[in-house]
Amino acid sequence: MTSFFRTTLIAAAALTAGAAFAQSTGKIKVGLMLPATGTYAALGVAIENGFKLFVAEQGGKLGGREVEYVKVDDESDPAKATDNVNKLVKRDNVDVLVGSVHSGVAMAMAKVAKDTGTLLIVPNAGADAVTGAMCAPNIFRSSFSNWQPGYAMGEVVAKKGLKTVVTITWKYAAGDESVRGFKDAFEKAGGKVTKELSLPFPNVEFQALLTEIAAAKPDAVYTFFSGGGAVKFVKDYAAAGLKGKIPLYGAFVTDGTLEAQGADAEGIFSTLHYADNLNNPRDKAFRLAYAKTYKLQPDVFAVQGYDAAQILGVGLVAVKGDTSKKAEFAAAVEKAKIDSPRGAFTLSKAHNPVQDIYLRKVVGMENQVVSIASKSLADPARGCKM
Ligand code: PHB
Repeated sequence: MTSFFRTTLIAAAALTAGAAFAQSTGKIKVGLMLPATGTYAALGVAIENGFKLFVAEQGGKLGGREVEYVKVDDESDPAKATDNVNKLVKRDNVDVLVGSVHSGVAMAMAKVAKDTGTLLIVPNAGADAVTGAMCAPNIFRSSFSNWQPGYAMGEVVAKKGLKTVVTITWKYAAGDESVRGFKDAFEKAGGKVTKELSLPFPNVEFQALLTEIAAAKPDAVYTFFSGGGAVKFVKDYAAAGLKGKIPLYGAFVTDGTLEAQGADAEGIFSTLHYADNLNNPRDKAFRLAYAKTYKLQPDVFAVQGYDAAQILGVGLVAVKGDTSKKAEFAAAVEKAKIDSPRGAFTLSKAHNPVQDIYLRKVVGMENQVVSIASKSLADPARGCKM
C-alpha cells in the first residue's frame, strides 16, 4: 500500500469515528411539530412548556447531550403534515420527532417515522393506530389512546344506571375513536347509543345538533371536543338550555379551558389520566415549578409534554446519547417506570401508557378527582404486530 493510500484510509477511519462520536456527544436536535395556530394552539404551547421544563430541570441536557429545538407550526392540518414532518427529518436532520396534538397529523408523522426509522414521541394525539396497526420499535406515546378515556367513561355512565346516550364530536379519528371506546364499554354493560352526531373538524356551528339532542331527550350526552372548540361547545350547551337537563359526560372537554368556560363548565364529569388536585408529591412539585416558570397553571397537555421529555431522557441515558442504538433505546423505555405527575406509569408492548383513568368533576376552576374510573387501563393495541 502506498503511503498516500495509507494516509487516506487513516483519515477516512478518523472521520467515521468522528461522525459516530458527534452522533452521541454533540447537541441533540429535537423536532417539535405542534400547533401554534388554530383551535389547538394553546395545547401546543402547554406541551412545549412541559417538555422544556423537564429538560431545564436536567440542566438542559438529556443523556449527556445538550438539547436544541427546531419548531414547525403544523396548524393541526393533516393535509400539510407529511411535508412538515419531511422538512424536519430531511432538511433539518432532527434526531427525534416530538408531535403532535391532532390525530391525523400524528398518523402522518408515524408513517414517516416508520419509513425512516426516526425516533418519534407522541405527546398528545390519541390516534389508536399510532400504537395499533402503525406501532413500531421507534414510536412511543406519552399521552393516551383515544379509546382509553372513552372506554372508562362508558363504564362510569353505565354504572350510574343511565340507559340511552347521544354522542357528539368532531368527525375525525379522535372523535370517532373516543366514541367507539365509550360505546364498547357502555353497550357491553347494556346501555344504548341512540344517535351519533358529528361535524367536521374544527367547525363550531353546534346549534342544529344541539336542537337534535333536545328533541331526542337521551339520559345523557357523551362528547369529545378540545381546545377552542370545547370552550364554545360547553358555552353553547348551556345557552341552548341543556345544562342541568341532560347531563354532559366527556373527555378533554374541560381541560385547559376552564377559565374561558366559567360557570358553564361547573359540574361536568369527564374521564382522563390527569386531574388538577392529585396532591401527590411529584405532581405538587411539578405544578409549582410550572407555575413559577411560565406564570400559568399546568394541565394534562403540559404533563404529557413533560413526560415525553422523560421518556426521551430514559432512552438517551441508556444509549449514552447515541440515537442510532434504537433497540437498546426501546428496551430501556419498555422497562422503565415513568415518574409522572399523573402517577407513575409504564408503557405497553405497543408503547402506549398503561395508566389509571380518573373520573373528574369540574368544581370551581378545577377538574377534581372523584375516583379512579379504571385502574391501570391498557389500550387493546388492535393490529399491532411487534
Ligand atoms: C387528537 O386529535 O388525537 C386529540 C386532540 C386534542 C385532544 C385529544 C386528542 O385534547
